[in-house]
Amino acid sequence: MSDIAAIKEKYSGEIAAADNLAGLDEIRVAALGKKGEVSMMMRGLGQMSPEEKKVMGPALNGLKNEIAALVESRKSALELDAMNAALASETMDMSLPVDTSMGTLHPVQQVMEEMAVIFSDMGFSVAEGPDIEDDFHNFTALNFPPGHPARDMHDTFFMTPDAEGEQKVLRTHTSPVQIRTMINQKPPIRIIAPGRTYRCDSDQTHTPMFHQVEGLVIEEGTHMGHLKGVLMDFVSAFFETDVDVQFRPHHFPFTEPSAEMDVRYERDGAAIKIGQGDKWMEILGCGMVHPNVLRACGIDPEVYQGFAFGMGVDRLAMLKYGMPDLRDMFAADTRWLGHYGFSPLLQASLATGLS
Ligand code: PHE
Repeated sequence: MSDIAAIKEKYSGEIAAADNLAGLDEIRVAALGKKGEVSMMMRGLGQMSPEEKKVMGPALNGLKNEIAALVESRKSALELDAMNAALASETMDMSLPVDTSMGTLHPVQQVMEEMAVIFSDMGFSVAEGPDIEDDFHNFTALNFPPGHPARDMHDTFFMTPDAEGEQKVLRTHTSPVQIRTMINQKPPIRIIAPGRTYRCDSDQTHTPMFHQVEGLVIEEGTHMGHLKGVLMDFVSAFFETDVDVQFRPHHFPFTEPSAEMDVRYERDGAAIKIGQGDKWMEILGCGMVHPNVLRACGIDPEVYQGFAFGMGVDRLAMLKYGMPDLRDMFAADTRWLGHYGFSPLLQASLATGLS
């Protein structure tokens, strides 16, 4: 029995002195591992007389449990020490000045965020859809009849047909997100859908990949007046000045009636000033959602009406921030980004200013 007391004393001393987790585990293995001292003694129980066993069995079990408990509590203490040391050494001084050499937000990203801020204030939420679309969402459900020339007007990029002969497209506009939203959500619907769009076109004001923001409202009793009000409020908020607009009749297969909205502007040397002046510039397409589109999405046009609009984000960014060539936006020139980019720390907000 004195053996047991001595062993206990030896291990409790060693455990208390252990100053790291690896060392502690070595001590545990030396005592309780398969070939450990206490395990070997327990194995010896088989050779003992029944009387000896009666005494030594519980004593050895007790020793084993006590050592295990000491190891556990030392382990917790060491882990806590390690965490405290990490917390103490990994502090961050929040009052340090910001590293201004960090990257900037791309103007397209900035403008999309500004738009999200303005429309979310009017109760819109943000919806998304895939860049690679099928014919149904990009065209058919949007009331482009099969073989209709309007499909070619979009300069569509077609993918190679898959094994079933289905030919997907790179979406030519964000309008397919309208379709996905109307199929998946019940009215009332109020969404904007920002994203990439693709058309086979490239010059000073066109790039094969560009960005659009789509808007969609479906609610009982919605009419053209709501559409005009939303868009008029939007442009003035976006350009951060009063902007005079006009709506011109237009044609889109998916809206009826359809319109394009122009903003008044004037040239001041090389600069374009939006808001006042004697010229008009088209900035977006819009209209009341065509009954065929509502029907394609399982919405009863006798009950629900709605409007939609779509605009080019890149062009609006160029107009607002005075960039001359659309192609520069996607040239990945860090000097250009340094000049036209926005601080990632300044969030667009209606209260503190959009830009
Ligand atoms: N999808 C149209 C385009 O890309 C824009 C639009 C959207 C027009 C919604 C009307 C309604 O040209």
